[in-house]
Amino acid sequence: GRALPLKGKSVIVTAGGTKERIDPVRFISNDSSGKMGHAVAEAAWEKGAEVTLITASPLAVSGNITVIRVESADEMHEAVSSRFDSSDALIMAAAVSDYSPETTHTRKMKKRDKLTLTLKKNPDILKEMGKRKQTRQCLVGFAAETDKIEEYAKKKLEEKNADLIVANDVGKKDRGFNVDKNEVIFFSHHEEPQTINLKAKKDIAEDIVDWISNFIN
Ligand code: PMT
Repeated sequence: GRALPLKGKSVIVTAGGTKERIDPVRFISNDSSGKMGHAVAEAAWEKGAEVTLITASPLAVSGNITVIRVESADEMHEAVSSRFDSSDALIMAAAVSDYSPETTHTRKMKKRDKLTLTLKKNPDILKEMGKRKQTRQCLVGFAAETDKIEEYAKKKLEEKNADLIVANDVGKKDRGFNVDKNEVIFFSHHEEPQTINLKAKKDIAEDIVDWISNFIN
């Protein structure tokens, strides 16, 4: 029969790029399509987990997965925070906007010659969950980098108290944001960095889920 190593485990996955509203018709966002995170959610479901996908992406989801659609970093924060304590694993594949407009206008702003936006820092969801994490829980973050991948990924592993950081190079066109393939490096506390060569996000997602299965079983 099928191997279901995550049967009875509750897994939360985040995906997509959050949108931070300037006014009803304008926002700040990034290039995340949600493909990577949705693939992780589907892979976890295929391995038997009870999966909640908290997504800022409009992409369809297959499998018996609870899907929570959010728009902003604040909404994603609330959705993750209220469910985290009862989960066995959290995988943050979302590209959470680091900043949002200090004020969101309720009416469409009129055009002007020059517009200065003041941005405020958003909550760091991964870091906050890292502080709350119980030893039985597995916390996986991503690191989207264009340079010094190893240095920055290792820093994120420590600063966010994650068990695994999945680092990817987002400065290349054939991987990372908004394409079907990715190449990643796994950084964890007790293993040497492990490179997963360029392949379908679906297959990368399986490797991530296998890593989590080993960790929590
Ligand atoms: O969605 P796709 O088009 O398939 O693209 C996939 C991807 C490139 C978006 C994905 O593979 C990826 O790298 N996701 C993480 C993007 C990101 O925000 O990386 P970061 O290095 O800025 O953040 C580090 C970690 O902290 C991430 O797990 C992120 O989810 C989390 N974070 C970041 C900021 C914030 N305010 N709160 C967070 O929880």
